[in-house]
Amino acid sequence: MKKKYIKVAIDSPAGAGAGTQSKLISKHYKLFYLDTGKIYRVLAYNKLKNKKIFNLSFIKKKIKNLRINELSDKKLLSNEVGIESSLIAKDKKIRKLVDKLQKKIAYNPPKGFNGSCLDGRDITYKIIPDADFKFFLTANINIRAKRRYKELKRINKKIKFSDVLKSIKKRDKNDFQRKVSPLKKTKDSILIDTTNLTIKSCFLKIKKIIDRKIYN
Ligand code: C5P
Repeated sequence: MKKKYIKVAIDSPAGAGAGTQSKLISKHYKLFYLDTGKIYRVLAYNKLKNKKIFNLSFIKKKIKNLRINELSDKKLLSNEVGIESSLIAKDKKIRKLVDKLQKKIAYNPPKGFNGSCLDGRDITYKIIPDADFKFFLTANINIRAKRRYKELKRINKKIKFSDVLKSIKKRDKNDFQRKVSPLKKTKDSILIDTTNLTIKSCFLKIKKIIDRKIYN
């Protein structure tokens, strides 16, 4: 590899496959992976647990003391936490605090990694505007809801497809239409529609794009 340190930025609506692909990219190129949505989810989970203590000073403290392994807690995956996180994510002050942490990780990944890979909603233009690779992943809404339904069914047997579809629609609306850092495809991002792609074929497509640049 000619260029040792690389930054990959991926934006996408929920269920488009960004998390899966980011993990594969990170593993293959030995990049530090950060699922930025999980930070909003940690905050949302805490808000749902106790609304009374959820203020800016609590949030600051929570972000400061956040441990990376906290982000893989299964309780963050629920539909309720997902919707609440998209509401929290509209708050300018909260975003400012979260942005700072994300940038720190993107530009200073832990030792031993060849760079970083972040996925979220505003990574390509706000968090890593100078990323070496920018992707916008998307897919048909029914397919996205089906994928999310399958994931959620594993942790909640009673979950209904119609509820998952409804919550994806709600989150899309919140994320695409908000004033602060809306989800959008930037001109310099490569669009990948994952509707008819398998996990492997999508990864190979992304790998081809990355390899072409780093090995030339
Ligand atoms: O990616 P995930 O679905 O876990 O994200 C949860 C919510 O967090 C999103 O619906 C979005 O509102 C918010 N988010 C964001 N900016 C990011 C990542 C996530 O606003 N960079």
